[in-house]
Amino acid sequence: MTASERITIDVGAHEGVEVAPDLWGLFIEDLNDALDGGLNAECVRNGDFEFNADDHDGWDALTAWSAYVVHRAEVRTDAPIHANNAHYLRLTGPVTLVNDGWDGIGTTTGQAFRLSFFARTGAEPASLSAAIRSRDNDLARAEVTVPPGGWHRCETTLTAVAGGRGRLRIDIPAGLVVDLDHVSLRPAGPDGEPLTFRPDLLQALKDLRPSFIRFPGGCVAHGLGLDNMYHWKTTVGPRHERVQLPNLWGYHQSRQIGYLEYFELCQATGATPLPVVAAGVCCQNYPGGAQSIDDDAMDAYTQDVLDLIEFANGPADTPWGARRAALGHPEPFNLRYLGVGNEDEITDDFRDRYARIEDAVRERHPEICVIGTSGPQFFGRDFEAGWAFARERGTAMVDEHGYRNPRWFHQNVDRYGAYEPGPQVYVGEYAARSNTIRSALAEAAYMIGLERYPGVVRLASYAPLLARVGHAQWVPDLIYFTATEVLPSASYHVQRMFSQERGTRLHPVTLSGVEPEPVTLPETGSLRLTSPGASVDYTDVVLDGLVRQPVTTGSSGEPVEVGGIDPAAATLELTATKRAGGEGFVVELGGDSYLQVHVGAWENKSTLVMRGDDDITNDDHGPLRWQGMQTGIPVRVKVRLDGARVRVRIDDELRHDYEQDLRPEHRVVVGAASRTAADGTTEYVIRAVNAHPIARVASIRLPEPFGTAVATVTTLAGARPDDGLPFTSSPVTPVAATAAGDTLNLPPWSFVTAVIRRVP
Ligand code: AHR
Repeated sequence: MTASERITIDVGAHEGVEVAPDLWGLFIEDLNDALDGGLNAECVRNGDFEFNADDHDGWDALTAWSAYVVHRAEVRTDAPIHANNAHYLRLTGPVTLVNDGWDGIGTTTGQAFRLSFFARTGAEPASLSAAIRSRDNDLARAEVTVPPGGWHRCETTLTAVAGGRGRLRIDIPAGLVVDLDHVSLRPAGPDGEPLTFRPDLLQALKDLRPSFIRFPGGCVAHGLGLDNMYHWKTTVGPRHERVQLPNLWGYHQSRQIGYLEYFELCQATGATPLPVVAAGVCCQNYPGGAQSIDDDAMDAYTQDVLDLIEFANGPADTPWGARRAALGHPEPFNLRYLGVGNEDEITDDFRDRYARIEDAVRERHPEICVIGTSGPQFFGRDFEAGWAFARERGTAMVDEHGYRNPRWFHQNVDRYGAYEPGPQVYVGEYAARSNTIRSALAEAAYMIGLERYPGVVRLASYAPLLARVGHAQWVPDLIYFTATEVLPSASYHVQRMFSQERGTRLHPVTLSGVEPEPVTLPETGSLRLTSPGASVDYTDVVLDGLVRQPVTTGSSGEPVEVGGIDPAAATLELTATKRAGGEGFVVELGGDSYLQVHVGAWENKSTLVMRGDDDITNDDHGPLRWQGMQTGIPVRVKVRLDGARVRVRIDDELRHDYEQDLRPEHRVVVGAASRTAADGTTEYVIRAVNAHPIARVASIRLPEPFGTAVATVTTLAGARPDDGLPFTSSPVTPVAATAAGDTLNLPPWSFVTAVIRRVP
């Protein structure tokens, strides 16, 4: 067993600073089947028959359905239930229609489900039977009668007689012709009403005690193309009338969790809403770049934003307040924050449209805190431009995003100590890019840093929040789930530990006995070439003055090692000629820590230098737009490593010239806040990260003499730093214990929260 090192945590008298009260919140986007197939309790997939090839190649109105047909099942669009829900199915019995749900439909004995659908039949009532059926048995079964003439909404309750996993099956007897649409099967709550949210996932969110919830994205907020932009008004009517859209993550958005359900989710979790509306421009990753709402349509769009505020907060005698009340919510939803834009490129069109929206909200709703945007990274062109624009306009808050490796988070614990007065910060998306303990602890260290600067950082949300196993487009995520299980990551436990124990007054902390970890360049390394997606010939290869043999890399991505290098002093020149394939190539230099020079990154559209630490690469410099590798046209590349300085020339143009970040890592990080307990005494909330193989024993000195103090200590520890994988539960869960209030044990690779109170 490794010896412990002693450290001291000296908690100073508080600075009169209030902890940011809404600091810890949630980011919800329909990504990874987070909503449809996830938080949305709906068990039927494609119940509206609206899936199509724009959602996903090969999808159509019958995706997720199969019909065992003696006669016919025909997709039709004439006289539908609503223009926004144009497709329905005409079934001519005998026929059995089966829906797969999302990987099946889970049941437990006694569980009630509410089945509903719109149906239309002839002049006589039609009797259909419905079941949730496993391979061999009916898990639940009921009969439904469809009244004659026109569309009718029909419903029934199916109560499970057994637990298992099945599929929804609807039988249309011989001789009947029935039109069917908006088929829904939802678990029923204790009051027998169909649930909106899947209960176990809802509970996992409630346990995070979020102060705010951001919605609907992320990229989904501004969409790929103007037709894909999220317009809130199209998501609050009856579910079967909502505008459904292709989801830019490659599936379908039913928008059954639309703006009304979002506000209800905020109520259910005690969070304040933080909607993000598009800044009048769509995502710049759309082919051809960002498109803007037409100039003469901007007033109407801006009015929609104002109407959203009225829908959330307006008295019931205002038009949109009345709409909210009519939907069952006479009381306002207490919206205080509004995000405008998401990671947008800061163009003239963006500036113009953002300004119109922000000006209108300022004028009509000065009480709302508007949050601007600053690109997809914690630095770079849009980051700088977004911040400059926000400062110019006096924007209240700026949304910053960054997905970086653990080292970056440990290096940046005090990032916000260096911020100039001006707009405050919402760290709207962040993650240390894996589900390991190492990443979770790096996030915890960073979060202590966020809490440390309440004058700057007001809000923060990890992203993405939810991912269905087998249906993810983005990892890591905070919470994984299957049809029947919730699988919280180590990062989830970190988030929960932060939000569950919060102080109200911040205290300075002096930590002695431990120093930040130096970051150095590796002493030895090698040069490797690789070209996933292309085959490339390299000629005239000169490494540190020595001419090397020509080499070729193939599109499989298999690296070719050229020779050893000193990562602090290396010079490479080569000519690369693409033979085939759509991509460019990568020059990799280094050892455990390495640089990757991407010549033709981002689908052969840019050059980029990445740096890999902790087995995870970060963008280090770039991406910078470039014309790309053309087949048969040679490109001359020169790379020079000189200490921390990196220079990359492509065809004699100096494209990258920067210093690698060698600031030390803060791996032992402590924060302290106090609060007043129910009995009027002061309690201290101490958070400590020990992202290190050596255990520490910390002596705690509080600013006031306490007599005997006792602590409730919650510890997340016991795994190796690289344990923890996507799509599984965290290898460790927090363990609570009672301990003396003057000493804190920090096991290797741990995060600890201690609530210290006086023994009466
Ligand atoms: O969180 C996933 C995505 O990352 C978001 O949609 C986007 O804002 C960011 O690039």
